[in-house]
Amino acid sequence: MNSAEKRRYKVAIIGGDGIGPEVLSEAVKVVKASGVAIETVEYDLGAGRYIRTGEVLPESVLAELRGMDAILLGAVGPPVGSGEVPPGLLERGLLLKLRFDLDLYINLRPFTATPDAIAHDADFVVVRENTEGSYAGEGGTLRKGTKQEVATQGSVNTRFGVERCIRFAYELASRRPRKHLTLVHKTNVLTYAGDLWLRVFSEVSKEFPEVSTDYNHVDAACIYMVESPTRYDVVVTDNLFGDIITDLAGAVCGGIGFAASANLNPARTGPSLFEPVHGAAWDIVGTGKANPLAAIRSAAMMLEYLGEEDAANRVTKAVLSYTASQSEGLSTAEIGDAIVERL
Ligand code: IPM
Ligand code: MN
Repeated sequence: MNSAEKRRYKVAIIGGDGIGPEVLSEAVKVVKASGVAIETVEYDLGAGRYIRTGEVLPESVLAELRGMDAILLGAVGPPVGSGEVPPGLLERGLLLKLRFDLDLYINLRPFTATPDAIAHDADFVVVRENTEGSYAGEGGTLRKGTKQEVATQGSVNTRFGVERCIRFAYELASRRPRKHLTLVHKTNVLTYAGDLWLRVFSEVSKEFPEVSTDYNHVDAACIYMVESPTRYDVVVTDNLFGDIITDLAGAVCGGIGFAASANLNPARTGPSLFEPVHGAAWDIVGTGKANPLAAIRSAAMMLEYLGEEDAANRVTKAVLSYTASQSEGLSTAEIGDAIVERL
């Protein structure tokens, strides 16, 4: 393709809260330096906007986002105990709303251990279901504030939602050298949801005879991820288990500052969203201590998903070469510059 035909992508930039904007601007710096042409549109969303205007995600903004090629997001969430934003309001109203409304039904979280990681040879991917389970918002309260208060929070598992997630995981496993897929659940206790997941897992396996399979209860998976993580290649699991085990995986594979994620709409009926696994980390805002590598790796996942494999590989290689060099004491922006130098 000559440069005249080079595609230009429209990318929404949602810095969000805390260190979100700091790490995201390094990711944008790296993408621009990779040679891929992007037009960025910045959106002011998150705690700041809510406190100023009471708005979380106006419908007009959501409509604009639908027209983007991709979305890069920093982090969402108010400072702990700030009292200005009710718990869950931004998470549910912004991040989860984007995941649900844009049908980003796969949350893909790859883990390649850094040389100094506890789980040093680990190299696996978690496929987290991203639109259902305990995140669906099913439940409610009765007699709130009284001694007889009742709170329920259900887990929604549809045949359709479970099957499309599991099928995505098999397809991914079939394209990887080891072709191994592990289902993580808690089928010994969550017998209704677990039964559906396990049945679909075994049914879909017939379409992928080349993929070897395994099943782990989620509690045991937490031990294995620390003690023998090399057993994993692709892991598929529900929304809440996926949330929890990917923080653990991040911690043992080199730190959460390194963990990237892609919220994918595999049907490509709209944009996919790319974000670091970590949160807003308000305690280090403005100190230059935030690690932008998770955001930069998320941007590499975006490039790959947009079909810019060459640029994606160069960014990922630059990040791996940087982490292997064990540079220490660099600020957020200096790390971004170091990656740009290695592209
Ligand atoms: C994540 C985060 C979110 C989640 C929060 C911020 C709603 O922890 O992306 O892992 O629970 O999914
Ligand atoms: Mn999480």
